Amino acid sequence: MSPLELNLILLGPPGAGKGTQAERLREDFPLAYIATGDMLREARAQGTELGRKAQEYMERGDFVPDEVVIGIVLERLAADDARDGFLLDGFPRTVPQADALAAEMAELGRRITAVLLVEVSDEEIVKRVSGRRVSKAGRTYHVDYDPPKHPGRCDVDGTLLVQREDDKPDVVQARLRKYHEATAQLIDYYDAQGLLRRFDGARSPTEVHDHIRATLATLRLENEL
Ligand code: AP5
Repeated sequence: MSPLELNLILLGPPGAGKGTQAERLREDFPLAYIATGDMLREARAQGTELGRKAQEYMERGDFVPDEVVIGIVLERLAADDARDGFLLDGFPRTVPQADALAAEMAELGRRITAVLLVEVSDEEIVKRVSGRRVSKAGRTYHVDYDPPKHPGRCDVDGTLLVQREDDKPDVVQARLRKYHEATAQLIDYYDAQGLLRRFDGARSPTEVHDHIRATLATLRLENEL
C-alpha cells in the first residue's frame, strides 16, 4: 500500500456534518466517495429492488440490514477509482459492518488510515437536521447556518430545495437512538486500534475542515517516515 494512500472513515451522529466535510475533503484529495445513505437514496429514486428494500428501514430511522449494506460497500470498494484511496461516509454503522470492512482490507493488503469522528450534541443535531434542505442532486443547505442565495432554490442548478423524509422530528429521534445504541460502539472499537481522531463538530464548517485537513497532513507525514 502506498504511504500516501488515504483510506478514511467519517463517523458521527446523523446531521453532524459528515456530508458537509466530505464535500470539502473531496476538493482536497482525489478520494472515491462512498456514502451509503446517498447510495440507498439513489437506489430508492431509481425504484430498484435494493431501493425498495431499503425504503421501509430508512423512513422509520432504522438501519438497513448489515448484509445488504456490506454487500454494496464491498462491491463499490472493488471499483477502480477506490484503489488509491476512499472516503467512507455513513459506513460502518455497526460492529459487524466494521468487522466486514476490516476483513476486506486485510484481504486486499490495505488498511484504514484514520477514522474522523465529528462530535455534536443531540440538541444541536436536532437544530441542524430540522433546518436542513437538499436539492434534487443532493446538495445540502441549512435555512439558518448555510442558506441558499435565493430561499428554497439550489445555488448551483436552481432546483427546488426540499426536506428529507427522515429529517422529520420523530424519525430524527429514532435515528439518534440508533446511533447511540449501535454506532457509538465504533468509537471505542477504532480508538482501541489507534485510528480514531476527534473533531469538535460544533465549530463552523470551515474550522472543522481546517482541523481535519491539518490532522490528515500530519498523518501523511508520519506515514512517509
Ligand atoms: P445517511 O444519509 O448516512 O444519514 P446520516 O448518517 O444520518 O447523516 P446525515 O446525512 O443525516 O448527516 P451528515 O452528518 O452528513 O450532516 P450534513 O453534512 O448533511 O443515512 C440515511 C439512512 O440510510 C440511515 O438512517 C439508514 O436508514 C440508512 N443507512 C445509511 N448507511 C447505512 C449503514 N451503513 N447501515 C445501515 N443503514 C444505513 O449536515 C446536516 C445539516 O447541518 C446541514 O443542513 C448542514 O448545512 C448543517 N451543517 C453541517 N455542518 C455544520 C456546522 N459545522 N455548523 C452548522 N451547521 C452545519
